[in-house]
Amino acid sequence: MSTFLITGASGGIGSAVSQRLAKSGHQLVLAARDVDRLTTLQKSLPGDGHRVIAVDMASDQSVAKFSERLESLDLELDGAVLMPPQPHAANDPLPDPEVWRTLFQSSFIGPLATLKAAVSRMRPDVTRGQRAKIVIISGISSAQVLGHYATSNVIRTAWLGEAKTLAFALGDRNIHINTLSLGGTLTPVYRDSIARRAAAAGQSFDDRLEAETDNVPLRKYGEPSEVAVAVEGLLSSFSDHMTGLNILHDGGFTRAY
Ligand SMILES: NC(=O)c1ccc[n+]([C@@H]2O[C@H](COP(=O)([O-])OP(=O)(O)OC[C@H]3O[C@@H](n4cnc5c(N)ncnc54)[C@H](OP(=O)(O)O)[C@@H]3O)[C@@H](O)[C@H]2O)c1
Repeated sequence: MSTFLITGASGGIGSAVSQRLAKSGHQLVLAARDVDRLTTLQKSLPGDGHRVIAVDMASDQSVAKFSERLESLDLELDGAVLMPPQPHAANDPLPDPEVWRTLFQSSFIGPLATLKAAVSRMRPDVTRGQRAKIVIISGISSAQVLGHYATSNVIRTAWLGEAKTLAFALGDRNIHINTLSLGGTLTPVYRDSIARRAAAAGQSFDDRLEAETDNVPLRKYGEPSEVAVAVEGLLSSFSDHMTGLNILHDGGFTRAY
């Protein structure tokens, strides 16, 4: 059994990842802002010993409290799944400085401070070949410019630079860090956005889905359960010789090698 921190645990991707890891017998520390939703998730998970910690990754004070609480649990983490909040609130390529400050705070600075707290609880015993695994959930604008995701293009690539830098810095402690970049994934939030686009275009949900996935080689968006399988793989011995990678989970959408 391993112990993993999952941020964004109550969301569409986070709850699928949490369910899968708990079913595999792992112990989880579930984090997000809304404690009620986290507690409902905690009660629905197989196994016991799962913990809940509130954190608003946009707030330095909240992240500091989270770090203290994590420290007080006195757990050793075998890994973490970090879900920086979605950064595409603004599509303007030249937004006001305040927009950038807010986005960097909530989608980069705060999540990175959260990750730093998690890393301080990872103590893999190098002499026994133990490894700790970090998976950062990102999006496919990490690998290509998406015209309608202006700020996201910047923040996703900043995460790649940070992840690669950390892979070098933490490698000799047997701490791995890989990024999983998602294409469209059918979480409730993403289904809602497809439904809105379908309504605006006067289409049914299914017709809209078929049209949107026409340029995806596998002709589908991903399922949260498929993301959960990939995350579990990256947290497992599957990635024992892999670090600093950006892995695309996009049905083949990305054209670049
Ligand atoms: N679904 C997709 O198609 C897709 C595609 C590419 C990338 N992604 C990435 O996948 C991740 C999850 O997506 P999703 O569809 O599962 O979204 P979601 O259902 O909205 O889940 C977001 C999760 O993050 C938490 N969260 C939001 N703001 C937070 C904050 N400031 N501090 C701490 N936790 C916060 C939410 O809980 P609280 O509100 O309680 O805090 C929730 O648990 C996101 O990072 C997104 O960028 C998704």
